[in-house]
Amino acid sequence: MTNRLSVALIKGDGIGIDVAEAAIAVANRAVAQVGLPEIHYDQILAGAGYFKDTGRDIEPGGEKRAGAADAIFLGAIGLPSVRHDDGTEISPHLRIRDIFGLYAGVRPVKAYPNAPQRLADPRAAGIDLVILRESTEGLFYSAAAHGRSDIRGDTEVRDTLRITRDISERLHRFAFRLATRRKERGKPGAVTCVDKANVFASMAFFRKIFDEIRPEFPDITTGYNYVDAQALDLVRKPWDFDVLVMENMFGDILSDLAGGLVGGMGMAACAEIGDHHGLFQPAHGSAPDIMGQNRANPLAAILSAALMLDYLSERASVPGYADAAALIETAVENGFADNRLRPMEFGGDMGTKAVVKEVLAGI
Ligand SMILES: NC(=O)c1ccc[n+]([C@@H]2O[C@H](COP(=O)([O-])OP(=O)(O)OC[C@H]3O[C@@H](n4cnc5c(N)ncnc54)[C@H](O)[C@@H]3O)[C@@H](O)[C@H]2O)c1
Repeated sequence: MTNRLSVALIKGDGIGIDVAEAAIAVANRAVAQVGLPEIHYDQILAGAGYFKDTGRDIEPGGEKRAGAADAIFLGAIGLPSVRHDDGTEISPHLRIRDIFGLYAGVRPVKAYPNAPQRLADPRAAGIDLVILRESTEGLFYSAAAHGRSDIRGDTEVRDTLRITRDISERLHRFAFRLATRRKERGKPGAVTCVDKANVFASMAFFRKIFDEIRPEFPDITTGYNYVDAQALDLVRKPWDFDVLVMENMFGDILSDLAGGLVGGMGMAACAEIGDHHGLFQPAHGSAPDIMGQNRANPLAAILSAALMLDYLSERASVPGYADAAALIETAVENGFADNRLRPMEFGGDMGTKAVVKEVLAGI
């Protein structure tokens, strides 16, 4: 008998609520389909709406409960109209990343058949890469917790770009292990270190550690790209890349660019993984421009739920959860191939609920 797993569920704000509910419904169906016990969800209130009502960004004890679960699932947090006194937005999820050491931000970028291709080159149909974004330090080090920015009155503000040996070693190993797993599934097995080592000492250090870890994985091909050239190459020849490992801010920007190449933010799934915890969420935000209209594409959240089931499979050593993840991925792949999935985000006729219904049917 398999133990019941528990997932901390933070729906958050705006479309985060809708897509989180969609993802959980799909995950539940897939888990039932493979005959595993229902996952237990511990819902935690957090976000801009919660802050507006209570003055807190997460309910008391919320972080502890999140840490006790087998995984954390998040919709999206933040509303531009709700801010702290220093002008920054409500972002308890950045603190959660920090507290639980979720250094490995995994952002798969894959072209699905019939989903919009933004590039005219037919090779764009073969885009299948992963952006691995360090998620606890880099230029977000200052953003992860209040009080880390060096604010000098109203004349100067300094944010710190922090690169540590400890996190960089773990991140690069994660990149090589990911490329190894992908190679086993027929992908090229290549890691590109994306940096700005020509200019910043911190980035030269990042690359130096990449070079130190590289010999541990002789089967994996390696390359380097400066981040500005990488932005160019993501438009010029994204099909040439497999795993791209980079600093936090670079990953923040390039993952949106890459998400755009295969449709839009509604396809951008995300896992944030540390040595003991994993958080799964769509890479997009709360999309205030379309919230409450049943227009959001829930597929990024749904594919993030598949990443979560894959993670739970490894964590609990229960292969069935990986089977459930594969059921979701296949339902999305086939749904696009047969033109049964037509999200409004791509000019289609299907709102959030219709997309969920179709994916459920596919499973
Ligand atoms: N991880 C997070 O929770 C997270 C991430 C990014 C932004 N945010 C927050 O979200 C709020 C809005 O930020 P933003 O507008 O910069 O980014 P956003 O990702 O919410 O929206 C950007 C654009 O993409 C569209 N979009 C996003 N997700 C979509 C989906 N699933 N289906 C269809 N269209 C989608 C939106 O309509 C909008 O036009 C802000 O408060 C921001 O701080 C939160």
